[in-house]
Amino acid sequence: MRIRVAEASEAEGIVRLINAAFLVEKYFIEGDRIDLDQVRSLFQKGEFLVADDGGALAGCVYLEQRGERAYMGLLSIDPSRQRAGWGSQMITASERWARERGCRFMDLRIVNLREELPAFYGRLGYVEDGMDPFPADTPTKLPCHFVKMSKAL
Ligand SMILES: CC(C)(COP(=O)(O)OP(=O)(O)OC[C@H]1O[C@@H](n2cnc3c(N)ncnc32)[C@H](O)[C@@H]1OP(=O)(O)O)[C@@H](O)C(=O)NCCC(=O)NCCS
Repeated sequence: MRIRVAEASEAEGIVRLINAAFLVEKYFIEGDRIDLDQVRSLFQKGEFLVADDGGALAGCVYLEQRGERAYMGLLSIDPSRQRAGWGSQMITASERWARERGCRFMDLRIVNLREELPAFYGRLGYVEDGMDPFPADTPTKLPCHFVKMSKAL
């Protein structure tokens, strides 16, 4: 498996992968996590890294530089390949991507209902540093908010 920068032509596969991985959030959020238009517009603002498993898309992560900070979002590992170290390796590759651009911090957000995620990111050096409200136009089945996490690179 190889981690590399995605081509815009891979947008459809990235949509399928993200929506499959984020099925885990179905218990509190309706519908797909993302659609093709949203992924195409993210390609205008940042880059996706993908984990390429002999031509199959095994994982992806969205990265955006924001001055001296970088934002990491939509980390998704194909459900059949989870818990094999790929998520952690994608994070390591994302941090390298950010350092190469001169960024000093990496930021991410998790939904507070995902109780397993703070420990996952915490083991990799991320600490909680605030909260954001959930977008008012996104209907949810349970009340929720974002927890912000960051790491100095
Ligand atoms: C979160 C995610 C990216 C982790 O990727 P991964 O390749 O499974 O992670 P790794 O194999 O590197 O690390 C696994 C460790 O994370 C923790 N972990 C991962 N998924 C977990 C889960 N569903 N429940 C509890 N712990 C979990 C465990 O501690 C695990 O270690 P272990 O297998 O030794 O117990 C992946 O599960 C995923 O795509 N989830 C759906 C999308 C998502 O939630 N993205 C992050 C949103 S901010």
